Amino acid sequence: MAPAIKTIVFPVAGLGTRFLPATKAIPKEMLPIVDKPLIQYAVEEAAEAGIEHFVFVTGRGKNSIEDHFDRAFELETTLEATGKTEALEGLMNSRPRPGQMSFTRQQEPLGLGHAIWCARDVIGDRPFAVALPDELMHGEPGCLAQMVEVYREHGGNVVAVQEVREEHTSRYGIIKPGAAEGPVSEVRGMVEKPAATEAPSRLAMVGRYILQPEVFGPLAEGRRGAGNEIQLTDAMAELVGRQPFHALRFDGRRFDCGNKVGYLEANLAIGLERDDLGEELRRVLARHLA
Ligand code: UTP
Repeated sequence: MAPAIKTIVFPVAGLGTRFLPATKAIPKEMLPIVDKPLIQYAVEEAAEAGIEHFVFVTGRGKNSIEDHFDRAFELETTLEATGKTEALEGLMNSRPRPGQMSFTRQQEPLGLGHAIWCARDVIGDRPFAVALPDELMHGEPGCLAQMVEVYREHGGNVVAVQEVREEHTSRYGIIKPGAAEGPVSEVRGMVEKPAATEAPSRLAMVGRYILQPEVFGPLAEGRRGAGNEIQLTDAMAELVGRQPFHALRFDGRRFDCGNKVGYLEANLAIGLERDDLGEELRRVLARHLA
């Protein structure tokens, strides 16, 4: 039986240039969707999938991520003293248990592949998951939980994919699919940011991965790929054909919160679903659309 996925890596060392000036002093991963930072949605999605250890690959200026998952004594004491028990419980429940988190640094943002490689000593020789927190996945069960099910059946490597428009293939790693059974396809190859004419399909990898530790081999070579960055896709491509490799068209919605319209859409979609906000937000929107 394939070993269980107990650890996840969150690469959070990017510069978030598309959100400047908001991200000058605040990490992109701490931007809130309604009232919860992006990184917390990702941690909750991982916990729901049975993952117990959270590894953050951070960089300079990212300390608030570490603080966010720590205790906040003054705040907690004040909430308790003023009887704000609901807010206090929310804080308590969102915090991983002591020892469940590790932080390592990517000293230079050389690309996603390099960020993952920076977690190699923490991961060791076990399969692990990766989630890009600026991709917000919304659905029940969560995207990672669905991927863990596929992994339990097939072992090896699993990536989440979604069909994208032809003119958008150059924004993503695109897979070459093989035999499919329902939403699960074999992966026969992959290429990072291909032009529409070169793309092997329109199935884009969207920021959720289950990987075998052998991926650290090609990553260690530090070869530059698309955009002169060390690409995770290039390292994963070397595992294709050597280990089981599957893609899951997951069931749920994805908001690309790394771009502004995706970020705004996530705020609206999740706000509209909330019992405490939906009705009023709908009225406000109607006013703006009138
Ligand atoms: P992105 O390319 O979307 O993030 O990387 P970015 O580079 O921070 O954003 P822009 O394009 O400048 O606006 C996806 C994820 O990978 C992390 C980012 O922090 C983000 O969570 N990442 C990216 C790293 O940790 N290191 C890198 O070298 C690159």
